[in-house]
Amino acid sequence: MADSSGKQAKVLVMDSNPVRARELSHRLRFLNYDPVVAGDGDPIDTSASESGIALVLGDAKDAKLRELFHQVALRQPHLPVLVVNAAQGAEQFDEDLKNRPHWTLDAPIRRSQLTQLLRRAQRYDGTERRQRITGSSRPIRQVRKQIEQVADFDTNVLITGESGTGKELVARTIHDLSDRADKPFVPINCGAIPAELLESELFGHEKGAFTGAVSTRTGRFELAEGGTLFLDEIGDMSLDMQVKLLRVLQEKCFERVGSNETRHTNVRIIAATHRNLTEAAQQGEFREDLYYRLSVFPIAMPPLYKRASDLPQLLNELLIQHQGENAGKLRIGQEALEALTSYAWPGNIRELSNLVERLAILYPSGEIGLADLPAKYRDAANQRPVTAAESQQAQPTTTTLTGVSLKLHLQEIETDLIAKAMAEADGVVAGAARLLNMRRTTLVEKLAKYKLS
Ligand SMILES: Nc1ncnc2c1ncn2[C@@H]1O[C@H](COP(=O)(O)OP(=O)(O)OP(=O)(O)O)[C@@H](O)[C@H]1O
Ligand SMILES: [Mg+2]
Repeated sequence: MADSSGKQAKVLVMDSNPVRARELSHRLRFLNYDPVVAGDGDPIDTSASESGIALVLGDAKDAKLRELFHQVALRQPHLPVLVVNAAQGAEQFDEDLKNRPHWTLDAPIRRSQLTQLLRRAQRYDGTERRQRITGSSRPIRQVRKQIEQVADFDTNVLITGESGTGKELVARTIHDLSDRADKPFVPINCGAIPAELLESELFGHEKGAFTGAVSTRTGRFELAEGGTLFLDEIGDMSLDMQVKLLRVLQEKCFERVGSNETRHTNVRIIAATHRNLTEAAQQGEFREDLYYRLSVFPIAMPPLYKRASDLPQLLNELLIQHQGENAGKLRIGQEALEALTSYAWPGNIRELSNLVERLAILYPSGEIGLADLPAKYRDAANQRPVTAAESQQAQPTTTTLTGVSLKLHLQEIETDLIAKAMAEADGVVAGAARLLNMRRTTLVEKLAKYKLS
C-alpha cells in the first residue's frame, strides 16, 4: 500500500521459519507493500525498520528471533507491530510490545485481516509515530482521552498552553487519528506571517491581485481540502483577518484574493495559542464570536512542571529521538534526574528536548551525573543561601499589639496561598514557587516553617 508520498510502505518480516517468511513476503508484495525479510543471522536492514510501517513476527519461542526483535524494538520505540498467532507464545514478546501500537493476526493469515491491520498500522507511520504524546501523569492522560474523544468528529478544537508544551503535537495526533488522516494536515503560523500577507496565504490569490502577485497561488484552505488546517498562534491574528476567518467557519466558503469565484471548503480547523483568549476577548483584541466558534472543544496543555512525573518517560523518549543509532547508550543518573525534576521548565518540553539534544552530543554514552548538567539545572537541586531580604520576609519582626495580629493575619494569607499553589502544582515545589513568583529555596523554608509539606 503506497503512502501519501506514493512510496510503497516497507514491512519488516521477522520469522523463525524462512520458508514461511518468504511466502508472507510474496503475499505482501502482491498487496503492494515492500517487504524486507529479517532474521536467520542476516544483519537487520535498519533503513527498512526506520521507514517501516509494520513488523510481522513469527514464532516467539525462538530465542534468536526474540533477540532480533528486541534489538529492533529498542531502536524503534513506536514501530507498529503485527504479531502473528498469539497462540504460539507471543506473550514472550510482551516486554517489547508494551507501550507500542500492536495488533494480533490470526493464523493462518487471512488476506482481509492482514490488509485491514496493515492499514491501521500504517496510520502510525511517520510523524505521529515519532511524536506521539508521551506520559502517564494525570493531566496528560486527560489530554489523551480528549484527543480520542474528539478525533472522529469534525468539531473545531482550540489547544491552549504555554510555549513548548506540545500543542502542535496534539493537533497532529488528532488529525492522524481522524478519518481525515490520509488527507493533508496543513499548519500555518498566524503570528509569524505579516497581517497583509496572511489573507492570501490562507485563501490564495489570483495573478495580479496585488503588486507582487505575479502568479496565481493556492491558499492553505485549498491545500488542506478534505484534511485539517492547523491555525497556530491564532491569538496573534489581526481583527481584520478574524472577521474573514469567522465567515469561512460559518459559511464554509471563501474567495481567493482578487477573485469573485466563491469556493466551497471542507477542512477541519484546529487552532492553538499560548495566549489567554478569554482575556484577549475582554480587552477587545480577539473577537468573542470567533472565540466561541473555535473553542467548541478546548484542550489545555499542562506545563511540564505540572506533569513532573512524566519526566523519566519523556527523557527516555527524547534520548531515543536524539540518539538514533546510539539509543540506549546514554542514561540519566538518579541525582541528575532529581535535579531536573525540581527545575521549573519555563520552556517546557521544547527546552527539555534541547537539553537532551545537547547532552547527547556532549556525552554519547555513559551516565549523566549532576555535575554534567548545565548550571541552571544543577542549581535547581542545590539549596541556595537565602538572601537577607528573603529571610526577613520569612520572619517579619513586629512587636506592637496590632503588629502581632497583623503578623498572624499575614501568615494566614501566606499559608493559604502556599497551600493553593502546592495543590495547583501537584505538589511539585518548583512549580509552586514559580506560581508564587518566589525562589524554590524560599518556598522550601516556608513549607518547613509552616509544616506544610
Ligand atoms: N509528549 C511528548 N513527547 C515527546 N516529545 C514531545 C512531546 N510533547 C512535545 N514534544 C516535543 O516538544 C517540542 C515542542 O512541541 P510542540 O511544537 O508541539 O509545542 P508547542 O506547544 O506547539 O510549542 P510552541 O508554542 O513553542 O510552538 C517538539 O519538538 C515536540 O516534538
Ligand atoms: Mg507550536
